[in-house]
Amino acid sequence: MAVKIALVGTGTVGGGCLDILDAHRDDFIRHYGVDLQLVRVCSRKGDTAAAHGLADIFTDDYREVIADPEAQLVVELVGGTGVARDIVAGALKAGKSVVTANKALMATCGEELFALAEAHGCELAFEASVGGGIPIIDPLKHSLIANGITSVMGIVNGTTNYMLTRMAQEGLAYEEVLADAQQRGFAEADPSADVDGIDAAAKIAILASIAFNSRVTLDDVYAEGIRRITPVDLAAARDMGYAVKLLALARRTPRGIDVRVHPTMIPLAHQMAKVDGVFNAIYVVGDAVGEAMFFGEGAGAGPAASAVMGDVVDVARRLQQGMPPAVGCTCTDELPIVPVEELSTRYYLRLTVPDRIGVLAAASQVFSDNDVSLRSVVQEGTSARDAVDLFFVTHTAVERNIRAALDELAARPDMLLAEPTVIRVEE
Ligand SMILES: NC(=O)c1ccc[n+]([C@@H]2O[C@H](COP(=O)([O-])OP(=O)(O)OC[C@H]3O[C@@H](n4cnc5c(N)ncnc54)[C@H](OP(=O)(O)O)[C@@H]3O)[C@@H](O)[C@H]2O)c1
Repeated sequence: MAVKIALVGTGTVGGGCLDILDAHRDDFIRHYGVDLQLVRVCSRKGDTAAAHGLADIFTDDYREVIADPEAQLVVELVGGTGVARDIVAGALKAGKSVVTANKALMATCGEELFALAEAHGCELAFEASVGGGIPIIDPLKHSLIANGITSVMGIVNGTTNYMLTRMAQEGLAYEEVLADAQQRGFAEADPSADVDGIDAAAKIAILASIAFNSRVTLDDVYAEGIRRITPVDLAAARDMGYAVKLLALARRTPRGIDVRVHPTMIPLAHQMAKVDGVFNAIYVVGDAVGEAMFFGEGAGAGPAASAVMGDVVDVARRLQQGMPPAVGCTCTDELPIVPVEELSTRYYLRLTVPDRIGVLAAASQVFSDNDVSLRSVVQEGTSARDAVDLFFVTHTAVERNIRAALDELAARPDMLLAEPTVIRVEE
């Protein structure tokens, strides 16, 4: 018997799902015995539905989808936490299973939605919410279940990885490469979610929750973006043997979960340093598996729809066979979040200062006064005649002390000519 599904959102990902259904519906029947029958398609405009010959089941009112007694499975591809939340919560309350690609929703309302799914005996699947086409939720929840996961590290935002790659390889400025990314459709007109690390923060919140069996929400993640990174920093990092990536990191520590997103220097020899352009990668360390890396296309109609439709076939098969839902929420523990001020790592710092005798010594003294030990110091001229860049790399230092030192430097009227650049170093 066919499983009746409804699709809400026919944009990039929704359109990709309709393409996959057109191309592979018969394969799903032949290979897996799953017959997916679309009974409702919803978006604000009906053009995409019409182009797929689905005008007769189109509606622009998602409430009709939730109220439709036929639909057993709702695919939410609207995005955001407004209407999308009403759709997902409404569908679950109506006893319909849900597949979503919505990282913002899962990272902010995951707990509430899982509780609804459980209360109503349905399933909530969200593979496409992290890593686009790369399978990572399912491996963490199933294939790697035998592990105590110690860390998850991801390049999970293709836009910023594309920008950093071009800035590093071609010496282009941030503004120039952002305009190019927008023109190519890799960056939104308002790029803040990507360049400020919010998108990556939502994704690492989801991954950390699964990896450490403890709820991590978007608000728990310290996020810093790439706006302050310049080609000068990327060249300096390369000279020191590092690539700079916007890394989303989650670690299990004795004090709780250390979870953050920020530009990070990674040794050039590390596999993650070789992930360039719009590609994504997620690197997982477990006590049994050791190190495992997942690599692929993190966005776009095809990759995202591949993950969505994988979930759809999987959930539909269970519905068709009358099986109970797969494992839902696995956040059984309540681990604290370690404040970023307690982070202990090495730091790259670039200070633009007046080209005057004694400035370097004074800046070094401020670091020393704040318990920050310097490993190397380099001074270089800048394009401005009266300014120089001071490049510091610290020994392992505590974030709180780094911040105190930078605050002290900023408070001196004759010291900093620009906002300092801070990049944390991962070994
Ligand atoms: N794009 C990617 O590469 C990618 C990758 C992974 C995950 N995702 C996630 O997938 C989801 C969808 O992203 P997308 O890129 O496909 O977005 P999109 O292209 O902007 O499509 C959004 C769709 O939602 C519809 N919609 C908006 N408000 C609606 C409402 N009130 N009622 C009914 N339909 C409404 C829009 O209708 P109209 O077309 O009529 O305006 C459009 O069809 C998001 O959660 C996103 O984070 C996207």
